Amino acid sequence: MTRWRRLIGRTAAALVAVTVGSFVVAAPAAAGPTDDVTPFVVGGTPAVQGEFPFMVRLSMGCGGSLYSARLVLTAAHCVGATGTNTSITATLGVVDLQSGSRIQVRSNYVYRAPGYNGNGKDWALIRLATPVTSLATLPIATTTAYDSGTFTVAGWGATRERGAQQRYLLKANVPFVTDASCRTSYGNEFIPAEEICAGYPAGGTDTCQGDSGGPMFRRDAANGWIQVGIVSWGRGCARANYPGVYTQVSAFAPAIASAAASLGG
Ligand code: ARG
Repeated sequence: MTRWRRLIGRTAAALVAVTVGSFVVAAPAAAGPTDDVTPFVVGGTPAVQGEFPFMVRLSMGCGGSLYSARLVLTAAHCVGATGTNTSITATLGVVDLQSGSRIQVRSNYVYRAPGYNGNGKDWALIRLATPVTSLATLPIATTTAYDSGTFTVAGWGATRERGAQQRYLLKANVPFVTDASCRTSYGNEFIPAEEICAGYPAGGTDTCQGDSGGPMFRRDAANGWIQVGIVSWGRGCARANYPGVYTQVSAFAPAIASAAASLGG
C-alpha cells in the first residue's frame, strides 16, 4: 500500500470510534444449517483475561500498550498533533470492553512522533490523567535482537476487511517477514529502516482496522513479553502476499524513551 492507504487509515481512525485488528479468516470445513450466516470463521482466538495486561483500547478506535503507569504507546496516525489533549479515553485491564472491572482513564497530553507526515514514524505517546499502577507494562525492544521470529498481535479491531470492531480482545501469532520480501509486496511504500512486516505468505492471519496503535510483541531471552512493533498499515487485511506493516519499535526506542522522559516518565 501506499501513502494513500495510510491516509485512509488515519482518516478512519480519526473519525471512527474504533478500528480493528485482523485475524485469520478461514472457510469452515463444513457449514451446516445451524451455523452462523457469516461464511467465515475468523482465525484469531480470544485472549484470556489477564493474558496481556498491557493491552489498551483507545476511544478513537485504536489500540495501544501500557508503556509506563502514565503513558500509552500507540500509532501516530491514531492521534492529532502534539499538545494538551483531554479527549481520549483509555480502557485498560479487561479483555471485555464492557466489563464492570474495566479501568477507564482520560488523556491529558498527546506526543506525536516528530516529523510524522503519514509516511513512516508511526508512533505516539498518550499521557494518562491518572497513573495506572495495577497493570504490568510492556517493555519495548531497544535493539534489533528480537526483530525476527514469531510475533503475537492482539486487538479489538475488525476480524475481516470492513468488519465490525470487537467487544472481546482477540490475539493471533504471525511470523516475521524479511525487509526484502516486504519490499516485494509493497515497493517503496515500505520503509525498511522504520517498519517491520509480519504475516503468512498465504495470508489468513493479520491485524486490521481498529488494531492500529496496538503492540506486536514476542518473548525475550528471559521469557518476558517485549514489544517489537506497533500496528500501522497494510493492503487490506490478511491478504496473501500482503503482510501487516508495523512500526519498528527498536528503530525509535531512543526517541520514545526521551519523549517519555519529557512527559514525566
Ligand atoms: N491502519 C489500520 C488502523 O488504523 C491498521 C491496518 C493494519 N492492517 C493490516 N493489514 N495489518 O487500524
